[in-house]
Amino acid sequence: MTNPAPLRVLALCLGNICRSPVAEALLRRELAAAGVEAVVDSAGTGDWHVGRPADPRSVDVARRHGLRLSGKARQLIRRDFADYDLILAMDSQNAAEARALAGSTGAAARVRLMRDFDPLAPGADVPDPYMGGQAGFESMFDMLERSAREFARQAAQPQNTAQADPI
Ligand code: 4NP
Repeated sequence: MTNPAPLRVLALCLGNICRSPVAEALLRRELAAAGVEAVVDSAGTGDWHVGRPADPRSVDVARRHGLRLSGKARQLIRRDFADYDLILAMDSQNAAEARALAGSTGAAARVRLMRDFDPLAPGADVPDPYMGGQAGFESMFDMLERSAREFARQAAQPQNTAQADPI
């Protein structure tokens, strides 16, 4: 038996500096812990912060939980729909923008909400913490961690190993 192809997951938010870099790091950690071979990246629907590192408040909250954020912000591009099996949007606005970029192709079906996998609030948004204080980044971390853990648990189920229709 050959190993299945790696699961390719892209975390998506607006600026790619607050939510999705943390989601990316958590997805990478939880998928590895669950034994799922994966390629994980993140992007934003907007271009204001392209090339910049993650927001210091996200870097802080991640570091306190043992995660290092090292990526640079980039914008979602059409090619991401070919390069990733799943695009996990932080909120419904991010999801709508991604689906609009995908257009009428079947690629739009690859867009899901990160919190579709949150056992405590399935389908909720990850609120944008950018304009708020550090407390918003802590609660953001908690919801992303729960979601990433459940996502990884589902991805590790035997029926998902073929990765054709990963989740
Ligand atoms: P993110 O947060 O989408 O979680 O990266 C934001 C970062 C920057 C802006 C908005 C949201 N902004 O408007 O610059």
